Amino acid sequence: MTSGPLRERRWGQLMLALYRDGRQAEALDAFGRLRQILAQDLGVDPGAELRHLHQVILQQSPRLAWHPQPRPTAGRGYFGRGHEMSRLLRRFNDAAAGQGGVVLLAGEPGIGKSHALQQLADAARAGSAIVLAGRCVEGAWAPPFRPFAEVIAGYGELVSPRQLRADLGLAGPALTRIAPRLCELLPDLTPPSALQPDEEQFRLLDAAAQFFMAVSARTAVLLVLDDLQWADAGTAMMLRHVARSCGHRRLLLAGAYRTTETATPDLLGDALGAMQAETECTVIRLRPLGPRRSGSWWRRGGAPVSSSLAEAIAAHTGGNRSSPRR
Ligand SMILES: Nc1ncnc2c1ncn2[C@@H]1O[C@H](COP(=O)(O)OP(=O)(O)O)[C@@H](O)[C@H]1O
Ligand SMILES: [Mg+2]
Repeated sequence: MTSGPLRERRWGQLMLALYRDGRQAEALDAFGRLRQILAQDLGVDPGAELRHLHQVILQQSPRLAWHPQPRPTAGRGYFGRGHEMSRLLRRFNDAAAGQGGVVLLAGEPGIGKSHALQQLADAARAGSAIVLAGRCVEGAWAPPFRPFAEVIAGYGELVSPRQLRADLGLAGPALTRIAPRLCELLPDLTPPSALQPDEEQFRLLDAAAQFFMAVSARTAVLLVLDDLQWADAGTAMMLRHVARSCGHRRLLLAGAYRTTETATPDLLGDALGAMQAETECTVIRLRPLGPRRSGSWWRRGGAPVSSSLAEAIAAHTGGNRSSPRR
């Protein structure tokens, strides 16, 4: 909220999340804070949508109850993948009801993994879950734990300093090691004294797990981690550690990785094997779309595509719009 106090949508999400967590007074307080900021900075009132939300929170309207989204949001321009999206959403709804775990999308580049994660994130947000997203990047120059650092710093930007401090709890100082942005958001937070490397590592993994547990104790959380094929050793370890503590929490860890790229050593493969043994972990394999779906996809551009042309395109691309068969 600090970087964008005027973003009303985020304030709305915060108010709703607080209310659904049984903290009506804090939800109303958030509205009061926004009204004050807007009045000071722009001399205007909050928009009609937020004023309405304020009213229904005051009235404790039953319409504010959490409603999981049982069906995929078949938005315009989205084709096929109904089955996979249903599985993803079902998994998220279970997590939102306290049966947390891990779901992973696997497939070749361009097959639609990131797109499906995005759809899931949109549905989770629409159900008022907190969505935290990070991704791995290719190359040895990327800092270790990069996606988790992105997620933790991103959360810091989303909530008030007071909320951030409460959620970090005792884990705060250790997490500044991978997310130094926390020290800017909470200037009184200081990195802890150094330990032996293995103790240091354990403290960090544990701090991350504590933090995600604290946030998911208040509200449903979707943790999205993309491009895991490029996970560094620290990220793979943290993934496994956080996954292990998801069990009875309102936390779904949703990741995606390419099946065509395997690093040496296979850090992700090792973490995957361990997660499947230790956690409720589902792997969904995205396969190429058939000619009918590929046809709809290409017709989206407005061009007439006959079924024979759709078949030819599907054969050429292997049902993957982004990568023609070589
Ligand atoms: N089911 C789908 N319907 C419409 N467009 C899609 C679908 N799946 C993927 N796309 C589009 O195809 C491209 C590649 O998808 P992306 O999700 O980035 O692939 P991946 O993450 O597997 O490499 C993107 O432009 C995306 O918007
Ligand atoms: Mg992708």
